Amino acid sequence: MSRSIVSPSVLAADFSALGSEAVKVRAGGAEYLHLDVMDGCFVPNISFGAGVISSIRPLTDAVFDVHLMIEHPLDYIEDFAKAGADIITFHIESASPADETIEKIISCGCRAGVSIKPATPADAVFPYLDRLAMVLVMTVEPGFGGQKYMESAEPKITALRREIIKRNLNTDIEVDGGINPLTAARSAYAGANVFVAGSSVFKSDDPAKAIADILSAADGHAFNG
Ligand code: DX5
Ligand code: ZN
Repeated sequence: MSRSIVSPSVLAADFSALGSEAVKVRAGGAEYLHLDVMDGCFVPNISFGAGVISSIRPLTDAVFDVHLMIEHPLDYIEDFAKAGADIITFHIESASPADETIEKIISCGCRAGVSIKPATPADAVFPYLDRLAMVLVMTVEPGFGGQKYMESAEPKITALRREIIKRNLNTDIEVDGGINPLTAARSAYAGANVFVAGSSVFKSDDPAKAIADILSAADGHAFNG
């Protein structure tokens, strides 16, 4: 199975120093940077858009893992690709047609991801799996950082991992919401291998240690069927 990766969510970072926050977690061992885009419509919160992402793009070589929590992702794929996104993930529950949105992401040169909210079953993404680099299973209701991890996501993670193995794919499964070493271990055991962590990394006195602790917890509890 694919190796474990930590993707710190800048939602918990100091926005007045976003560039240096991004550089700090990259230096601390994070390969990805998770960028949560919220439109106040798909979720009841507004964060930032493509302009902010392009302004930090020159500062780091981290993989930009853009999570679109917006109602009409298809209309904005080009903007986020131009801003420097490497992976673009949108919600299956959004208003955009999934097939077309995935094609658009890939044709813009990015890797495509689809996300499911806690109430959406795992098999909602099965029809698209062959074209996806990643599936993002929300472990909280999207919209805000600092919420409690929902164990109810674990059977969905396992169902997805089994389907991915059955089809001989190497799709990543990312978990997002309430991730710390303990919940990283639980979700890794269920089948996840990419771990979004906002509060547990950016609010830590030692982000490098927080990242290392999540990685070692995940690696110590990897899915074994
Ligand atoms: C929530 C976002 C998350 C959030 C995670 O809607 O998608 O990425 O920042 O934050 P923590 O790790 O604090 O739960
Ligand atoms: Zn997110």
